[in-house]
Amino acid sequence: MIAREKIRDLLNGEKVGDEVTVCGWVRTFRSNRFISLNDGTCAANLQAVVDFEKFDEEQLKKVTTGACLKVTGTLVESLGAGQSVEVQVEKLEVIGEANPEKYPLQPKRHSLEFLREIAHLRVRTNTFGAIYRVRHAVIYAVHKFFHEKGFYNIHTPIITGSDAEGAGEMFRVSALDPKSPPLTESGEVDFTEDFFGKETNLTVSGQLEGETAALALSEIYTFGPTFRAENSNTSRHLAEFWMIEPEMAFYDLEDSMDLAEEFLKYLINYVLTHCREDLDILDKRLADEDKQKPALERSPMGLIEKLQFTLENEYERITYTEAINILKNSKPNKKKKFQYVIEDWGADLQSEHERYLVEKHFKKPVILFNYPKEIKAFYMRINDDDTVAAMDVLFPGIGEIIGGSQREERLEYLEKRMDEMGVPRDELDWYLDLRRFGSAPHSGFGLGFERMMQFLTGMGNIRDVIPFPRTPGNAEF
Ligand code: 4AD
Ligand code: MG
Repeated sequence: MIAREKIRDLLNGEKVGDEVTVCGWVRTFRSNRFISLNDGTCAANLQAVVDFEKFDEEQLKKVTTGACLKVTGTLVESLGAGQSVEVQVEKLEVIGEANPEKYPLQPKRHSLEFLREIAHLRVRTNTFGAIYRVRHAVIYAVHKFFHEKGFYNIHTPIITGSDAEGAGEMFRVSALDPKSPPLTESGEVDFTEDFFGKETNLTVSGQLEGETAALALSEIYTFGPTFRAENSNTSRHLAEFWMIEPEMAFYDLEDSMDLAEEFLKYLINYVLTHCREDLDILDKRLADEDKQKPALERSPMGLIEKLQFTLENEYERITYTEAINILKNSKPNKKKKFQYVIEDWGADLQSEHERYLVEKHFKKPVILFNYPKEIKAFYMRINDDDTVAAMDVLFPGIGEIIGGSQREERLEYLEKRMDEMGVPRDELDWYLDLRRFGSAPHSGFGLGFERMMQFLTGMGNIRDVIPFPRTPGNAEF
């Protein structure tokens, strides 16, 4: 290891007067004198001051944006504006050069679209450095929240034989030769010859396996990658995303809504408390981006203001039926401004409707519950009025951030629902066992981690809150 101080640990000034060694990447080099060095341990750069007369000209030429340096010198209080301390460089080593003719990241504003094409380098920008650090903090806060509540973390399988959501949007996993797969007598691909002896896919949700653990350990959560082969090219869909799925025995739907609200607020509060420097960068970025937009499209609140607002206000809880009534009577519906006009009870809500409820009508997060059974998954508990005990949490600027439900714990009801919806019972026999042996009321939900990251960072496109996004037509890196 190269012995060095982290920039994060030098900025508090405790080491002023000491000789320090710092490694990092050059952001800018001004007047042949001031090097702005960043090592990613925090957002701030450290200014390294060189007296060019003391250094070899050829060596200084290699100090260009993107190059990696090791500098040694005395840490002093800075006289210049913008930083508290700086290093007066006595020794300088260029560890890795970055040819300025070829290095794509120059000290100017690059578009997010361009940066997506160089996702292997974009983490070296202020914006993405902030996003990656916040992402880490949120991952940590998720585990901290559940650990402190006594929930156990469960690893559910990534390769599975079941379609947890029954939506059929799965990526197949196969080791068969695509050019000449073994065939059955009727000419279809014979998956009994495949690696697992059956058809398998990447998981769309860890919920069903999570339920097995909840009905033994009481309160559990999963936090893993999930995969969906839905062909949605939107700013809120990824083909590979991370989901947090708590599952709790003895909770009804309302208990689950309480937990969801507490959890979301905990994460927001954690970021507000621990990531202030990075939030300031992201807040400013959003404000700058907004200035480019027509007044009507600008966000009504700044990022930090919005986070505080979502922390301090209670979420509105209304039934699907109430929501439909509000939407039917809404201006955009009457004027046919919605792309999908709401006609009748039973309509599936699109993100334009969700956002109307949150951003225009209630002006705060909304939890919708008790949906028509036809538009929800097979495992949700049937209410007396034929709705299901489902709930979705809707957030400003995002739409659905959480989806969850109370689960059908009664064997006969569940079997009936599976038959009605064409979900093969034999494949999920193990799932039915949970209702055969020691069944109990239980509930759970899934938080889309990247949607939460979008909310926390104010990034408009989900491709910018995960290091290497997977979307239709794109699996670079
Ligand atoms: O509503 P969903 O499909 O619910 C489930 O998968 C349940 N098994 C969860 C549970 O009850 N344990 O997905 C949950 C959340 C959504 O609310 C959304 O935030 C996110 O996952 N999500 C996606 N995020 C990014 N890209 C996609 N393609 C997503 N699909 C869902
Ligand atoms: Mg959903």
